[in-house]
Amino acid sequence: MMKNALNFSLADFFFNDSTNVLTPPSDFLEWMQDERIQAGFSFFEQQLLDAPRAVTKIHSNIDGKDRRVINFTSYNYLGLSTHPEVVQAVIDGVKKYGMGASGSPMLSGTFDVHVKFARMLADFKKKDDCILYSSGLGGNVGAMQGLLRKGDLLVMDEKIHKSLVDGGTLSGAKMAFFKHNDMEHLDQILSENKGKRTLLAVEGVYSMDGDLVKLPEIVDMIDSKYPNVGIYLDEAHSSLMFGKSGRGVGEHFGLEEKVGMDYGTLSKSFGGVGGFICSNKMIIRYLKGYSSPYNFSCAPSPAIVCGLMKSLEVATRDSTLRDKLWENTKYFKEKLQALKLNIGQTVSQVIPIIIGSSGEMLFEMATELQTHGLFLQPVDFPAVPAHERRFRLSMTSQITKEEMDEALNIIEDVIVKKLKKAGTI
Ligand SMILES: Cc1ncc(COP(=O)(O)O)c(C=O)c1O
Repeated sequence: MMKNALNFSLADFFFNDSTNVLTPPSDFLEWMQDERIQAGFSFFEQQLLDAPRAVTKIHSNIDGKDRRVINFTSYNYLGLSTHPEVVQAVIDGVKKYGMGASGSPMLSGTFDVHVKFARMLADFKKKDDCILYSSGLGGNVGAMQGLLRKGDLLVMDEKIHKSLVDGGTLSGAKMAFFKHNDMEHLDQILSENKGKRTLLAVEGVYSMDGDLVKLPEIVDMIDSKYPNVGIYLDEAHSSLMFGKSGRGVGEHFGLEEKVGMDYGTLSKSFGGVGGFICSNKMIIRYLKGYSSPYNFSCAPSPAIVCGLMKSLEVATRDSTLRDKLWENTKYFKEKLQALKLNIGQTVSQVIPIIIGSSGEMLFEMATELQTHGLFLQPVDFPAVPAHERRFRLSMTSQITKEEMDEALNIIEDVIVKKLKKAGTI
């Protein structure tokens, strides 16, 4: 057995010195033999046996049992994945169009519903045009790879999603990271690179912390000092939820016009799968020409697009779903704070419960939470800093007060009890 196996993480096995590329590093194989590491990995790829509703059923890898769980792990923020009108639209779509698009958008994969949905999204986001991708990750990778070239600069918040970093790597552009939401550091990087073709990529809601981008400060800085820097805003966790009309954090701050490229995923609040970017007509046309995940990949399933059009319609015809989401978020956050739990700087439906540096404690808690009937995934280093290991909770508009209270009781019995015992709260 490997000594101190718990001191290692996936961050330690990236480089592989085995002579055969198809053989993982020998120390990785040794690490994976450790029972405690296997127990940690068992939290991955657990099977949902029902829809990703607020209450669902999973096959637990922890003890091999099927059980009912309160589900704070799915991104079905507005419950649209299972909304009856959306489900019916998908059924009707699949009957008409079949299962897949059977072609890339440039050749035979563009259907009438793709064109219609892209127009709906562009109008919704108040931009000229929209490009659809079959995955959210593909959209970010494709935008960076399609727009940036060697010699360009991609500046990103250090907490940016991996898809933007991967796209940046693929593009060959130089990449620079500023400290999370640190405007002085951003200013320093931009001033050191003045004159370079530069894109600034930020997220509306940061996905592990639930805090917002400081868009007003960024816009002020760019307008006054760096007018050629373009802003790319990833609204994966904010579209349909933030802003008076649900257009996202850009609308929330009244700064949509300053956002050059407005990115969204269709897998979270929309309840389906895919990605999209709204911008001006000619840059979308240009991007379509050079973005491999668009050009060289099958178009989104037309049946899913039928469901997504219905999602957009349901979420925007009034504010019922958003209002419920914010009501639930407020209730749950206040209760967590009353329990003295550290929920960081969140101002959104993404709520971290920060445990601290003990990975062992995190996984002990995760095991108990699950056997008590709460599906809440542990988030370990390197996904988050080693001293801020956490649970990351996704609130949903679909959960009832009784279910939230049931979850809070489990959190108190498991997390609060252990943190009190450790003297942390
Ligand atoms: C901020 C952000 N951008 C992009 C993505 C990629 O979206 P998808 O999961 O739909 O591929 C994610 C997904 O986790 C995300 O959190």
